[in-house]
Amino acid sequence: MLTTKTVLLGASRRPALRRALVGTPVTRRVVERFVAGETLPEALAVVRRLTGEGIAVTLDHLGEDVTGPEEARASRDAYLALLEGLAPLDLGPDAEVSVKLSAFGQALPGGHDLALDLVRPVVEAAAAIGTTVTLDMEDSTTVDSTLAVLAELRRDHPGTGAVLQAALRRTEDDVRALAMPGSRVRLVKGAYDEPPSAAHQGRRDVDAAYARCLGVLMRGPGYPMVGSHDPAMVDLAQRLAAEYGRTADSWEVQMLHGIRTDEQQRLAASGTRVRAYVPYGRDWYGYFTRRLAERPANLRFFLRALVSR
Ligand code: FDA
Repeated sequence: MLTTKTVLLGASRRPALRRALVGTPVTRRVVERFVAGETLPEALAVVRRLTGEGIAVTLDHLGEDVTGPEEARASRDAYLALLEGLAPLDLGPDAEVSVKLSAFGQALPGGHDLALDLVRPVVEAAAAIGTTVTLDMEDSTTVDSTLAVLAELRRDHPGTGAVLQAALRRTEDDVRALAMPGSRVRLVKGAYDEPPSAAHQGRRDVDAAYARCLGVLMRGPGYPMVGSHDPAMVDLAQRLAAEYGRTADSWEVQMLHGIRTDEQQRLAASGTRVRAYVPYGRDWYGYFTRRLAERPANLRFFLRALVSR
C-alpha cells in the first residue's frame, strides 16, 4: 500500500528530488530544526549549548550512500576531525559519536571489510578522548554485517554500541544476544520501510515488540539506551529501571535533536540521563526525509513553511 511514509522513504533515495530541495532557502530554514548545521564549528556550538544544559550528545556526521571508497575515506576523516574538535571540550562520554556504516562504504563491493577498516580508527580516536562510538542501524539487509562489525570492534573496545530496531522480527533474538556486561544497545522502533517478512507492520505490534525488547535490556547487565520520543516507552523504561533497581547512571534516554526538546530538558532536570542525537553536515537530505516520514506533524511543519515563504 502506498502511504505518505512509503512515498517519503522512497523520496529519501531519489537524487533528482534531493537536488531540487537541497538548494532552497526554505528547506534550509526548516532543516535547521533537525540538523545542527552544515559545518563542524556549528555542530560544536550546539554541543557546548546542550552539554551546558545537562544534556549529553551523540554526534552524527551526515554522509550516507557513498558512491566510492574515496567518499568512504572522507567520512572517516570527517569523524576524525570531529573527535579532534571534541577533544579540547573535555566532555568524555558526554559527547560520543554515532556512525552509519553506509557512510563508510558498507554497501560498496567488498564494503563490509572496507567499512570495518575505516571505522576502526574512529573507534580508537574516540577511546583516546574517553568516549565511545555507536553504530547506527540501517535497513534490514545491513543488520548481519553491522552486528559482525560490532563484534570485531568490541574485541578491543567493548564499549562500542549498536542500535537495534524493535520493528524487525529478528530483533528480540539480537537483543538477547547483546544483553551482556558492558554492552551498549540503543533500542529504537526503526525508521526504514521493511517488508512484512522482515518487520512488524502495525504500530501496535512495533510498540509491543519495543516493550518486550526493553524488558530484556533493562533486566540484563548491559547499558540500555532508550531511543524514543514516545512517552509510553520512556515511562515504561523508568518503571523498569525502578523495578530492576537500576541506578540513574546505568541507562539513558536518547532523543533526536530538535524533537521534544522540552521533554529532554524536563527529564534531564529530574535526574534521568538524557542524550540528544545531533546530526550535522551538508548531506542532510536522507536524514531529513526520514524525520518527515515518521510523523505527519513534521511534514505539515515543512509544507507550512513552503507556502508561507
Ligand atoms: P513514534 O514516532 O512511534 O511516536 C510515538 C509518540 O511519541 C507520538 O505519538 C508522540 O506522542 C511522541 N512523539 C514522537 N515524535 C514527536 C514529536 N516530534 N513531537 C512531540 N511528540 C512526539 N532508526 C533507525 O532505524 N536506525 C537508527 O540508527 C536510529 N537511531 C536513532 C537514534 C535516536 C537517538 C532516536 C531517538 C531515534 C533513532 N532512530 C533510528 C529513529 C527511530 O527508529 C524512530 O523512527 C523514531 O525515533 C520515531 O519513533 P519514536 O519511538 O520516537 O516515536
